[in-house]
Amino acid sequence: MRVAVFFAAAASLGGALAQEVYLGFNSGSTTTDRKVKKQADFEKEFQTAQNLKGSPGSFASVRLYTNIQAPSKDDPIEAFPAAIKTNTKLLLGLWCSGTTNIDNEINALTKAIDQYGSNFTNLIIGVSVGSEDLYRVSESGVRNEAGPGQNAKTIVKFIKDVREALGNTSLRRTPVGHVDTWSAWANKSNKAVIDEVDFVGANMFPYYEDDKGNDFSNATNVFNYALNSTEKAAGTKPVWITETGWPLTGPDWGQAKATSDNAKGYWDAIGCSLFGRKNVWWYALRDSNPDNKAKFGISNELSTTASFNLTCPSGSGAPASINKEDAKGSGSTLFVSAKAILLAIILAIAL
Ligand SMILES: *[C@@H]1O[C@H](CO)[C@@H](O)[C@H](O)[C@H]1NC(C)=O
Ligand SMILES: *[C@@H]1O[C@H](CO)[C@@H](O)[C@H](O)[C@H]1NC(C)=O
Ligand SMILES: *[C@@H]1O[C@H](CO)[C@@H](O)[C@H](O)[C@H]1NC(C)=O
Ligand SMILES: *[C@@H]1O[C@H](CO)[C@@H](O)[C@H](O)[C@H]1NC(C)=O
Ligand SMILES: *[C@@H]1O[C@H](CO)[C@@H](O)[C@H](O)[C@H]1NC(C)=O
Ligand SMILES: *[C@@H]1O[C@H](CO)[C@@H](O)[C@H](O)[C@H]1NC(C)=O
Repeated sequence: MRVAVFFAAAASLGGALAQEVYLGFNSGSTTTDRKVKKQADFEKEFQTAQNLKGSPGSFASVRLYTNIQAPSKDDPIEAFPAAIKTNTKLLLGLWCSGTTNIDNEINALTKAIDQYGSNFTNLIIGVSVGSEDLYRVSESGVRNEAGPGQNAKTIVKFIKDVREALGNTSLRRTPVGHVDTWSAWANKSNKAVIDEVDFVGANMFPYYEDDKGNDFSNATNVFNYALNSTEKAAGTKPVWITETGWPLTGPDWGQAKATSDNAKGYWDAIGCSLFGRKNVWWYALRDSNPDNKAKFGISNELSTTASFNLTCPSGSGAPASINKEDAKGSGSTLFVSAKAILLAIILAIAL
């Protein structure tokens, strides 16, 4: 009896301590030929992500950019039922640029909550209000003709709108944040957004940092600089790595060259140092943006054999197997129970 109580207490303590770390890919709403993805397309993607050969773990999470299924006004995106079917965890995104309100994005989300209930809401890790909106109105965003964005004040307002809309739903305690480039987070003009969010989603691409010495040999330094700058700006707010990767093909960017070897080298050096230790959504399993000449997809044909060997080098420190159980729906039970047993032993000794 006593022992059982100790074990139960330790198990719940262990569960609380063993905070789950998410491993996923980004997924746009179209393919590179601008075709709108349907449920079957998302399902195939999510299944591939969970079954990649040689991968250090199951990529059982996906980050989306919109809640809306095109061409509808505010119907839920078909990635939602695909995620339910494949038990894929969701980092949701509301598209916030080029608009004065995000009512349609919010409607699509609340409709999905009504339609799918806890089958849907149990999968949601967080909600990102916007994606790179602050970058697009920054000096480099304007220089790169990145398109319409939003300023910090508008993003703060939209975040408050989302909090209010979710306040009466089962997502009222879900983390609400924003995704932007590391340089937008490091820009002090955007501090109000950091103050408002529950998490800071950072996009970091050493390939594009042509003013930071971006030869591939310096990629780790540039990445660390970007991550450190973001973490410093974020203060106590958790930093999630929402986009990172290196293109397999595409133009030279400053000193950076897009090659399959560099993409593999980046996976080994950066990916394998992060997987299982920080929340990471890799860019990308499959390319979406037809306007981007750099191609980042590691399996554009959705083969479980990716374009390069995904096995992490020994000594990279990557856990041998991350989330392999998640795909089957049993959570990170192994990890949790190891900690729980350890705690039970400590408690038993203490008593
Ligand atoms: C949730 O999933 C269960 C099991 O698949 C299913 O029976 C139920 O109808 C689903 N609920 C909704 C609201 O879709
Ligand atoms: C910092 O943010 C402000 C406000 O959006 C913007 O005007 C400025 O260009 C940004 N600075 C840089 C270096 O991008
Ligand atoms: C939330 O619920 C309260 C009480 O039921 C109600 O007064 C309020 O209007 C609701 N807010 C929204 C955004 O639905
Ligand atoms: C490497 O990257 C760091 C951080 O961006 C930068 O300070 C340094 O100048 C770069 N080194 C070279 C040789 O380009
Ligand atoms: C980033 O921070 C880590 C740990 O705090 C440190 O080891 C590393 O040297 C820093 N890198 C850069 C480029 O500042
Ligand atoms: C993939 O890389 C790992 C570690 O670097 C190596 O052990 C394995 O043999 C490689 N697999 C293939 C198919 O080349």
